[in-house]
This record gives sequence, structure tokens and C-alpha cells, in this order.
Amino acid sequence: MNIRPGAIRILVLLAGLAVLAACSDNGTEPQLDDSGGGGEPTVSFAADVQPIFDANCIGCHGAVGGNGGLSLAAGSSYDNLVGVPAQGYSGDRVVPGDPDASVLYRKLTGAQGVGGPMPPTGTLPPATVDPVRIWITEGALEN
Ligand code: HEC
Repeated sequence: MNIRPGAIRILVLLAGLAVLAACSDNGTEPQLDDSGGGGEPTVSFAADVQPIFDANCIGCHGAVGGNGGLSLAAGSSYDNLVGVPAQGYSGDRVVPGDPDASVLYRKLTGAQGVGGPMPPTGTLPPATVDPVRIWITEGALEN
């Protein structure tokens, strides 16, 4: 028989799909959900979080330095946030898995103990900051 590599790849793919279909039928396999409690991440830093900074923050937290010593510009924001101690407050800007311990999220929600809210003109609607909370809860991945 003359089976080309391309045909083998398609067969492997079909076999994989069949296994997936079988798993979702028996109802005992864990299903993906959007609760942030496991499974695949539901929020992407690049696609869901960075646009919030672009729209609301980089006027004051631009590429170089920035207020509070914090640049939120695309390309440097992640490295300035995750596991990095806040300049003005105790604790890290982002503690993976723990939004309520993260200075970034606490300022976004106007929490006590971290100075004024961000942005300074008043907190953004919950629906806008929710992706940040979910992203931190899901481990603050560079995704
Ligand atoms: C009008 C200017 C302005 C805007 C817009 C702004 N910030 Fe700030 N930000 C500041 C200033 C000034 C400070 C330093 C004083 C303070 O900590 O409140 C600061 C500090 C911070 C800090 C603390 C940094 C540290 O390590 O101490 C975080 C986190 C922060 N901003 C996040 C944000 C986010 C997220 C946004 C957008 C949703 C935002 N800021 C929008 C001016 C701004």
C-alpha cells in the first residue's frame, strides 16, 4: 500500500477526534469550563489584558519609566508586573493565582491600603477589569 505522510497525519487527527468524542459522551471525564478552576486558560494576557492597559493606562504608564515606576506598554508590561514588588506599596504588583494580594488588581478595584484607585479618575466598570482578575486567578500566564 502506498500511504503518503499527509494521509497518516489525517488518520492520526481523526483517531484523536474519535477519542475526544468518546470522552465527551461518557460524562465522566472532566469538562473544560470557564470558572478558572482548572483546565485551559480562558483569558489571554495579550488578547484580553493588554488592550485594557492600552485603552486606559499607557497615557501615564508609557514605555519608559511611567508613574509609580511602572510601564504598562505592550512588550514590557508583563515583565513589570508578574512577581515584581510594587514601588509604592508592600507586596507584588501581580501574585499569580491571587488577585486580592496583587497591587495591580487592588488598585483597579479601589481597594484599601494601596493608595488611590487606577485610573485616578475612578475605577473602571467590573466587566472591564474582570479579565484581569481571571488572568491572575489562572496563574498570570504570559499567554
Ligand atoms: C492620569 C495618570 C494615570 C493613569 C491614567 C493611570 N495611572 Fe496608575 N499611577 C499613576 C500615578 C501618578 C501612580 C503613582 C502613585 C500611586 O501609586 O497611586 C500610579 C501607580 C500605579 C500603580 C502602582 C505601581 C507601584 O509599583 O507602586 C499601579 C499598579 C497602577 N498605577 C496601575 C494602573 C493601571 C492598571 C491603569 C489603567 C487602568 C493606570 N494605572 C492608569 C498615574 C496614572
